Amino acid sequence: MCGIVGYIGPRDCVPIILEGLRRLEYRGYDSAGIALVKGGRIQVHKKAGKVAALAESVRINGNGLSGGLGMGHTRWATHGEPTDVNAHPHFDAASEIAIVHIGIIENYRAIKTALVRDGHTFVSATDTEVLAHLIGETYKTAGDLTTAVRLALARVEGTYGLVVLSSREPDKLVAARKGSPLIIGVGEGENFVASDAAAIVEHTRHVVYLEDGEVAEVTRDKVRTMTIEDVEVEKLVHEVTLELSQIERGGYEHFMLKEIHEQPETICNAMRGRLLVEEGDVKLGGLQNVLGKLLSARRIVITACGTSWHAALVGKYMLEQIARVPTDVEYASEFRYRNPIINIDDVVLLVSQSGETADTLAALREAKSKGATVLGIVNVVGSTIARESDGGVYIHAGPEIGVASTKAFTSQLTVLALVTLLLARARGMPREKGRLLAQELASLPQKVEGILTRDEQIKRIAEEFGDHKNFLYLGRGANFPVALEGALKLKEISYIHAEGYPAAEMKHGPIALIDEQMPVVVIVPKDAIHEKVLSNIQEVKARRGRIIAVANDDDTEIDQLAEFVIRVPRTYGFFGPIINVIPLQLLAYYIAVARGTNVDQPRNLAKSVTVE
Ligand code: G6P
Repeated sequence: MCGIVGYIGPRDCVPIILEGLRRLEYRGYDSAGIALVKGGRIQVHKKAGKVAALAESVRINGNGLSGGLGMGHTRWATHGEPTDVNAHPHFDAASEIAIVHIGIIENYRAIKTALVRDGHTFVSATDTEVLAHLIGETYKTAGDLTTAVRLALARVEGTYGLVVLSSREPDKLVAARKGSPLIIGVGEGENFVASDAAAIVEHTRHVVYLEDGEVAEVTRDKVRTMTIEDVEVEKLVHEVTLELSQIERGGYEHFMLKEIHEQPETICNAMRGRLLVEEGDVKLGGLQNVLGKLLSARRIVITACGTSWHAALVGKYMLEQIARVPTDVEYASEFRYRNPIINIDDVVLLVSQSGETADTLAALREAKSKGATVLGIVNVVGSTIARESDGGVYIHAGPEIGVASTKAFTSQLTVLALVTLLLARARGMPREKGRLLAQELASLPQKVEGILTRDEQIKRIAEEFGDHKNFLYLGRGANFPVALEGALKLKEISYIHAEGYPAAEMKHGPIALIDEQMPVVVIVPKDAIHEKVLSNIQEVKARRGRIIAVANDDDTEIDQLAEFVIRVPRTYGFFGPIINVIPLQLLAYYIAVARGTNVDQPRNLAKSVTVE
């Protein structure tokens, strides 16, 4: 999704902004631009394609471009194709102000029509240019930029994180937020604005989180914050703990591979200080205040998007089967618009890596407005979902840069397992059983470590199947969501069509697709329904489908049926997904590498989806 970085201070902003934009590349984008004030004029450079193309254009055409006030943007196209013209920043009619924007201005058509009637012409197809013109109009009478931005935004419907600068007031940036993330980085005699701490963390760790409806006037030495209605707001300065090494590749070819290999550690981090193996119990500080609510909840509703939604599906199996708490799972984008029946004794769990996904955030607000207790299972510390929840649990996976989520998924599952064990024990699970489960959880990092050593075999399978056009993934029970996740990983980074299905459901349609051109990946642990899944595999084999199985070390039957068997250690059934997904992540990764796709920046995708 779009990214923003702005700077005001004594240094040259150009390298700071370009480097900041590079740090935001992982969010997904298709064009980039930069604006700064120089010699009483705003200079803008923008380019479709990568930040490297923008940097090159600035080098060749910039004529020594430099200055102490500027801002940059990476755009993920919504209104208008990814072209130079549609890239941000955008000007107002007088070219006196420039704006960068994340989000969608929903009433831009009505505003545009009125502006066109007054003689405005537009060069781009974007909603953002309309907003630039609107602010420009207000600026004529408002007196100063901050007031102009406030007054214009009062007329706007939709979402935004934005930064505006003016050639008439080259001593400030004005930032505003509603629904899209935006932080102010506080430095010494210099300040920053960014959509993501990763863009500025090498300069400052002190940040102010803007809330919805807030505007910030950022000068070199000061950050003045107010509401759109001009009520001054006192803001706290927070410290972010992000390390630069965490957002660098550290010797791996891609962030995704680095993050896959981090999983033994990240799973461990999710449990650290929380899992009490001897007591067979769990302690979660972030749930302390809401424990009563959780225990008396009639049901839990989990809502999320993408990979996090797959984690939620596994969570349902865990919570219902181990803790016996009725649990529903729903896509956040559906939940928010269907006027869901939510009671005050429901607990709504939001699962989100970024903590900024627009639909998940809207679902949180919907549930809250209906009186439910809302809890977040979130990775990014201080993100909006984390801040707006009544309680929750951080997954502590560290920054996830690869667009295809990997380590966040296994950490989400680990935290869901912890929540489950906590509830199960509180609802009467004997200590002995709790201890067995806790021991099993504690053993997972080592088991994942073992699977990661098998990547040579997975590479060979990837080479064998890399040129196929379709894949089917099958699993049952808690491994059905793993099949969905395996298929999603493949789609996201290799652009191969893949579907996940509950194995037994295959005969109700997908079986028609099976022939020797159809690789079928089956997750077949030795659990209570092992024999059933073997029968499903027979059905595939009878139609000459080619089978890749993810099976336990001691499964001897599977060799007769599958062409390739990737071995995984045994674990307690409902924790199986944490282990079984690892080979599927590696398979998708190596297939994408074999096909030469850009694994870390796959086409059309965004890491953090801040528009609905
Ligand atoms: C995007 C990302 C996915 C992610 C989904 C939900 O589509 O590319 O990897 O699963 O958003 O994001 P969240 O940050 O809420 O987990």
